[in-house]
Amino acid sequence: MIQKVMVIGAGQMGSGIAQVCAQAGYTVVLNDMKEEFFQRGIGVITKNLTRDVEKGRKTEEEKQAILERITMSLDLQDAKDVDIVIEAAVENMEVKQSIFKQLDTIAPKHAILATNTSSLPITEIAAVTTRPEQVIGMHFMNPVPVMKLVEIIRGLATADEVYKAVEEMTLKLSKTPVEVNDFPGFISNRILMPMINEAIYALYEGVASKEAIDDVMKMGMNHPMGPLTLADFIGLDTCLYIMEILHEGFGDSKYRPCPLLRKYVAAGWLGKKSGRGFYVYN
Ligand code: CAA
Ligand code: NAD
Repeated sequence: MIQKVMVIGAGQMGSGIAQVCAQAGYTVVLNDMKEEFFQRGIGVITKNLTRDVEKGRKTEEEKQAILERITMSLDLQDAKDVDIVIEAAVENMEVKQSIFKQLDTIAPKHAILATNTSSLPITEIAAVTTRPEQVIGMHFMNPVPVMKLVEIIRGLATADEVYKAVEEMTLKLSKTPVEVNDFPGFISNRILMPMINEAIYALYEGVASKEAIDDVMKMGMNHPMGPLTLADFIGLDTCLYIMEILHEGFGDSKYRPCPLLRKYVAAGWLGKKSGRGFYVYN
C-alpha cells in the first residue's frame, strides 16, 4: 500500500509530481538541496492551486489541505519511512546513481525507487542498488498537472508487482499509464526529441525564422506549441542531455545534437526557466 511519497527535486517536474500526489491524497515529502529551491517549487504549486480555486475547481479548504500534505525535506534521510520515492533531479546519470545509492541504504526494504528520467536507462540506475527489482521508470509529462500520460518503464529486473503498484498509483493520480521497455528515450523522447533537434537544425541552417518554424508545426500539424517554444518550455539543458543519451545509446549519427543547441546551453540560455532560450521571457 503506497501512502507516503518522497519526491526528489522541486523543479518544474518535481513540483508538479508533488502537487498531483498531494491532490490524490498521498502524504508527500518534497526534497531539494536548498530551502530556496523547495520554496520556489511550493510557490508554483500554490499558484496552480489558487488558480483552481479562482476557477471554482477547488475550494479554499481543499487547497489548504493539499498544501498541508506536502512537507519540506533537505535531507535524503527523510526517505526512511516512505513507501515510494519519485526522483526528479537533473538528467544526469552520475547524479541519479548517487541519489539511488543513498536511497537504497535509507528507504525501507519495501519501498519502490522510481525515477522520472526522460531518457536514461532504468537498468543502469537500478544496478547501483541492492533492490533492482524495486526500481522503475515513472515518466511524467510537462506540465504535470495538465498532461494525462505517464510512461512506465520496466528495467531489466523490475518485478511485476512493482509495475502493478506503480500502474495503480498512476491511475489514482488520474493519469493514463503506458508500459514501455528500457531503451534510450523510451517512446516519448525517442520520437519527440529528434523532431525538436531537427527544428533547431532548420533554424541553424537558415531554412526559416524561429517564428516561421513554430508556425508551420502549430498551424500545419496542429501541435499545441511549435518545437522551438516547446524546447524552451522543456529546458534546453534537458533537451541536450536527452539528445546526448540517444546519440550515445544508439550510436547513430541521426541523433547528433545540433551545434546551436550546444551553444545556447553553453551560454546559459536554458529556455523559459532561465529567462532566455530561442525566445526571451520576463
Ligand atoms: N502548470 C499547471 N497548469 C498549467 C500549466 C502549468 N505549467 N500551463 C498551463 N496550465 C493550464 C492552464 O491553467 C489552463 O487551464 P485553465 O485555463 O483551465 O486554468 C490550461 O492548462 C491551458 O493553458 P493555457 O490556456 O494557458 O494554454 P494552452 O491552451 O496553450 O495550454 C499547454 C498550455 C497545456 C502547456 C499546451 O500548450 C500544451 O499541451 N503544450 C505541449 C506540452 C507538451 O508537449 N508537453 C510534453 C513535453 S515533453 C515531456 O514532458 C517529456 C520529457 O521528458 C521532456
Ligand atoms: P529542473 O532543473 O526544473 O529541476 C531539477 C531540480 O532538482 C532543481 O530544483 C534542483 O535543485 C534539484 N536537484 C538537483 N540535484 C539534486 C539532488 N542531488 N538532490 C535533490 N534535488 C536535486 O528540471 P526538471 O525539468 O524538473 O527535470 C527534472 C527531471 O525530470 C530530469 O530527469 C528531466 O529529464 C525529467 N523530465 C523533464 C521534463 C521537462 O519537460 N522538463 C519532462 C519529463 C521528465
